[in-house]
Amino acid sequence: MIKLAPSLLSADFCNIKTQIEAVQSGGADYLHLDVMDGRFVPNITWGPKIIADLRKCSALPFDCHLMIAEPERYVEQFRQAGADIITFHYEATPHAQRLLAHIRSLGAKAGIALCPQTPVSMLQDLLGDIDLLLIMSVNPGFGGQRFIERSLRKLREARTLIDAHGASIELEVDGGIHLENFEAVREAGARVIVMGSSIFDTANPRETVAEFRTLAAGAAAR
Ligand code: DX5
Ligand code: ZN
Repeated sequence: MIKLAPSLLSADFCNIKTQIEAVQSGGADYLHLDVMDGRFVPNITWGPKIIADLRKCSALPFDCHLMIAEPERYVEQFRQAGADIITFHYEATPHAQRLLAHIRSLGAKAGIALCPQTPVSMLQDLLGDIDLLLIMSVNPGFGGQRFIERSLRKLREARTLIDAHGASIELEVDGGIHLENFEAVREAGARVIVMGSSIFDTANPRETVAEFRTLAAGAAAR
């Protein structure tokens, strides 16, 4: 089954409650929340306070994507704010295994993200510690970027690695995904698909999510 994870990065925060309700009624499975610090990535978004506020508007699982330096300093705060999945970047910490274990000990799912330049093989020795593997299909930091085609091969490599180890890791893809390449990332092995601008830059985000839902259902039936 494919999970849809709309990214609020491209949402209208003046109408955030309505926007969340829209993607929820369209069939979203997760809400993807992009935390950026202006250090690990050149953009800044929001912190735990905003996530705690959003928590009051939605019961969907919060898929928290931390694009921050020194993520180990903040995971407890994000868990307290209501994050269900906490994903940090492999490139952002020297002690990924320790941090994955710490996130699990807080009762959250532990996710790890790879920037486009980091090979999937770097995770070989971490598979038992990971609940979600996020393949970035753009360089993290901004919505609305172009999908990097090499990511399809990387998703296949990740799928093979996960399956070969019989690991129950959710494979997620994030960046540049729209109606036209949705099937390609699914076929390459992604099971959680993040979409920001291709949902929130449309006139009717609810209908757009529903369209993605229909695509995903068609794929499941094949
Ligand atoms: C980018 C973020 C994404 C972003 C994707 O660094 O991690 O979650 O919202 O946006 P789109 O879908 O517009 O590429
Ligand atoms: Zn993201």
